[in-house]
Amino acid sequence: MAHANELALRGWGRTYPNPLVGAVVVRDGTEIGAGWHAEYGGPHAEVIALAAAGAPARGATLYVTLAPCTHQGKQPPCVDAILAAGIVRVVVATRDPNPAAAGGLELLRGNGIAVEVGVLAPQVARRNVRFLRQFTSPARPFVAIKLAVSMDGMIADAQGHSRWLSNESARAWVHWLRAGFGAIGLGARSAIADDARLTVRGDVQPRVAPTRVIFDRTGRLTAAHPVFTNAATVPVVVVVGVAAAEASRGALRNTGAEILVADEVSVALGRLAERGIDSVLVEGGGRLAGAMLAAGLVDRVYQIQCPVWLGAGTPAWIGLGTPAIESVKRWQVTDRFGLGDSGDVMIELEP
Ligand SMILES: NC(=O)c1ccc[n+]([C@@H]2O[C@H](COP(=O)([O-])OP(=O)(O)OC[C@H]3O[C@@H](n4cnc5c(N)ncnc54)[C@H](OP(=O)(O)O)[C@@H]3O)[C@@H](O)[C@H]2O)c1
Repeated sequence: MAHANELALRGWGRTYPNPLVGAVVVRDGTEIGAGWHAEYGGPHAEVIALAAAGAPARGATLYVTLAPCTHQGKQPPCVDAILAAGIVRVVVATRDPNPAAAGGLELLRGNGIAVEVGVLAPQVARRNVRFLRQFTSPARPFVAIKLAVSMDGMIADAQGHSRWLSNESARAWVHWLRAGFGAIGLGARSAIADDARLTVRGDVQPRVAPTRVIFDRTGRLTAAHPVFTNAATVPVVVVVGVAAAEASRGALRNTGAEILVADEVSVALGRLAERGIDSVLVEGGGRLAGAMLAAGLVDRVYQIQCPVWLGAGTPAWIGLGTPAIESVKRWQVTDRFGLGDSGDVMIELEP
């Protein structure tokens, strides 16, 4: 299942609003076929894995990250393919909350196939958050914060420079990460300091480009900022406070950007959800990250720990107050891996 989950990630940025799915066919302890859902509307993981396995799939076990579907959508039902292939056991990580796809596991059991559900369910669900949330109507988008941080907890040096704290591999990975989110968020101070464009410029081009969202409570941005150069093709939303709303409306709207008026990030996130944004990757800076964390609005953190000390600068998480050690919440480390060969380490955490 761990391998199926890895394979599922190959569809990152390309399958939404359909799920990421990976599948592996195993016979006598050996993998004989594997597949993943690579493109929205394209063939399903199970069907690809079964085709790769061929005739030896008869009598084998199928591991699949999401319960096989029973309905004719853009693709034929996977349950039919499983029955036709002669699979005797199906191991599933998560159920499919889509009512249209329901009943697959019961149908398999009814045909004498052994079915197990829940293997590595949390790990798999974590990668499929966008798909799974569609069926729960949450009041705000899923919020992940990504920061590159020095050993002494800074995200920029004393001059406000953050290029480049993290290495080239880390930056390439962030472009990959962006492709799987509905929006990319940034604080206005960072947008100005870094001339950020917030577009996806990596190997994976998202099927739908993430909306760019700048949190600019006091109206610092001008229409000359590079984020607005292609606002007509890749949407830009500027969140401004009530006091700055009138001035921003006039100046920024002509660029094609949308102005959203909210003084607090929690209100802004609610408005983004109403606008159809299901997930936001917030890329800093420290003030915005700290405000969101302090307000309990963060669902996941990707912190890239970089092996340098800056001595002074912009701290990574500003405004958290001064809690005592015995009262702080300990987050769960849900993933970690090295990026490149100069020591950057990505640590993924969830509350
Ligand atoms: N290493 C990294 O990963 C990384 C990533 C990004 C940025 N950076 C660096 O970080 C520095 C800038 O970071 P920063 O911390 O100074 O600023 P920032 O987080 O980029 O910008 C803060 C923005 O968010 C708004 N804001 C703050 N709290 C809010 C709340 N509770 N509700 C609504 N809006 C709120 C602020 O409003 P106001 O207008 O009222 O202030 C301001 O517009 C730059 O030097 C940049 O290079 C580093």
